[in-house]
Amino acid sequence: MTDSSSQVVPGPFAVISGQQVHRALHGREKDMIDLIEHGYRLHGNGDGATVNPPSYFLRFPNQPANRIIALPAAVGDEIGVAGIKWISSFPANVAKGVPRASAVVVLNDLETGYPLACLEGSIISAARTAASAALAAVRLSEGRERPRRLGVLGTGLIARYIHTYLVAAGLEFEEVGLYDASAEHARGFAGYLERAGAAKATTHDSAEGLIRSSDLVVFATTAGTPHVTEPAWFTHHPLVLHVSLRDLSPEIILDSCNIVDDVEHCLKAQTSPHLAEELTGNRDHIHATLFDVLTGSFTPPTDRTVIFSPFGLGVLDLVVSDHVYRQVAGCPDAVVVDDFFHELSRYGKDNGA
Ligand SMILES: NC(=O)c1ccc[n+]([C@@H]2O[C@H](COP(=O)([O-])OP(=O)(O)OC[C@H]3O[C@@H](n4cnc5c(N)ncnc54)[C@H](O)[C@@H]3O)[C@@H](O)[C@H]2O)c1
Repeated sequence: MTDSSSQVVPGPFAVISGQQVHRALHGREKDMIDLIEHGYRLHGNGDGATVNPPSYFLRFPNQPANRIIALPAAVGDEIGVAGIKWISSFPANVAKGVPRASAVVVLNDLETGYPLACLEGSIISAARTAASAALAAVRLSEGRERPRRLGVLGTGLIARYIHTYLVAAGLEFEEVGLYDASAEHARGFAGYLERAGAAKATTHDSAEGLIRSSDLVVFATTAGTPHVTEPAWFTHHPLVLHVSLRDLSPEIILDSCNIVDDVEHCLKAQTSPHLAEELTGNRDHIHATLFDVLTGSFTPPTDRTVIFSPFGLGVLDLVVSDHVYRQVAGCPDAVVVDDFFHELSRYGKDNGA
């Protein structure tokens, strides 16, 4: 922002609540899928429109299950923001009655670097993850029969968002199969499906039964190491959205066609594709990025299992956050802190203020 004397004046700082984020995104799932495709294309073009350095994982020696991840990024072109998502994962929260993940996103102006807003980030993160999964489901199933039997392995909040976005993307399921290590969680998800008017849910008592009876399999567990290790469960060649990244053994990865969002990002942090690289010493098992599929430079096979493993790109969080910021910042109920940046005179003011 520039005033009449051409001095750059930082704008007011906005605080955007989860309720406002929800209002900006709910019911706009199709628009979000298009926006995420735009984000992937900006990133994939590789012409400097995006900057997406490695995520930083803060871990706690005495609490190995917990982590907080920092995802800094910048998106140029017409979007023009930088920022960071700071997202915690504390799996024991679920037993205490609150979701596993919590997050904030800070958006920065690319002209001054000044922060523009702090947004509740868990909904933004779930929405961008689900929009990416739905985009992948549609584009990776082209040429195959449209998936009609959905299998959800790990039935938490991310799985709920993914189901909502798959339906918004136009996929119609005759059956939805569920499997979760906790029967209570699977029951909770079945209740959500019923309220959403979805196809009747069948709860399976094993991952094998679920995988064998599904042509689209979504992994959204909190497993830290592979628990699905039998390639024979995949002989019907399903499409797999491996959103939780660490469920599949290297043998299953090596037996399949693997699509990732970003090769450098995904082959890190003990993801299943990373374990396969450690086993073989090469990256030959990575066939393409989703960008390659979007641009038509790679056509996924129809006679092999196709696995999409998205590491999750900070640029996608920023694209969605920028959209929410533009929707909310001008609204009457926007919370803005006008004097958030106080020390704006380099040598102090001569009126002693
Ligand atoms: N790739 C990405 O971009 C991305 C983005 C967001 C979240 N995620 C991942 O999605 C996953 C799910 O997140 P959430 O917020 O829904 O978590 P959540 O805790 O709400 O749900 C996870 C569910 O998985 C179940 N589970 C754990 N281990 C299992 C196993 N071995 N077999 C079957 N079920 C199992 C749990 O009982 C729980 O119900 C997390 O691993 C998270 O890191 C990935």
